Amino acid sequence: MKYKPDKNAPIGLFDSGVGGLTVLKHLINVLPQENYIYFGDTLRVPYGEKTKEELYSFVTGILDWFKFHNVKIVLMACNTSSAVVLDEVKDNYDFPILGLIEPTAEHIAGLDSDNIGVIATSATIKSKAYSQQIIKLSPDKKVYEIACPGLVEIVENDITHTDQAHEKVFEYINPLINNQVEKIILGCTHYPYLAEVINKFTKAPNMLADPAQYLTEQLYQKLKELDLFNNSSNCYRKYYVSTAPDKFVKAGQRFLAECSNATLINPIKN
Ligand code: DGL
Repeated sequence: MKYKPDKNAPIGLFDSGVGGLTVLKHLINVLPQENYIYFGDTLRVPYGEKTKEELYSFVTGILDWFKFHNVKIVLMACNTSSAVVLDEVKDNYDFPILGLIEPTAEHIAGLDSDNIGVIATSATIKSKAYSQQIIKLSPDKKVYEIACPGLVEIVENDITHTDQAHEKVFEYINPLINNQVEKIILGCTHYPYLAEVINKFTKAPNMLADPAQYLTEQLYQKLKELDLFNNSSNCYRKYYVSTAPDKFVKAGQRFLAECSNATLINPIKN
């Protein structure tokens, strides 16, 4: 089938849970007139502890579901999926599929800072997607990557302000501070929920780089290039999850207040 999208078709975006709402927040600021369909795979969170085969199966199920909804473009609002399976799936669909790693690596490569920290899930760190792409573009940079198991669950369970959360964050951030990093990439879309706690330890609020910002800029350019900005005055945003919609809404509203209702679906082929 030829890719002939309707300008008013929705943009699909997904994550394992509430993390991708941190991306949607950026999108709404820059492209408020677009329609969005958000899927949080709450049944299978955390993605960061899954194998490549499992992630491939989850992601293709989600992309097929987006295809059924006639989306004009899909964003992987999930670093783990972007790092581990984007390259394998991106040519299998008619619509463009954008991820978080490439636009972030391009941005970071252009900065003066030479010491870069990345915090992300175990699967993202294992893939070395960030360090490889940054060093390919800017070989003099030093990139320190830290896997942070447990942080996603802290965000999903809405306990970011507990002592347990602060201790975990300190354990992961401290080695980066000791290595005198100048920027820290929040390499998991759940981590902006912890930005305040992270900033307490870095004592430098401008140190954090949120990939959502660079993906949003890339999406804007893509829609412009394809002449696909929504030109209707009506717009909607719909939220879907694979389990526990109430829990999703409660945790997610801390970041995106308008997310007050989510529908239960299961797009995964077994
Ligand atoms: N928020 C996703 C990411 O950016 C997935 C985290 C997870 O489920 O482990 O990596």
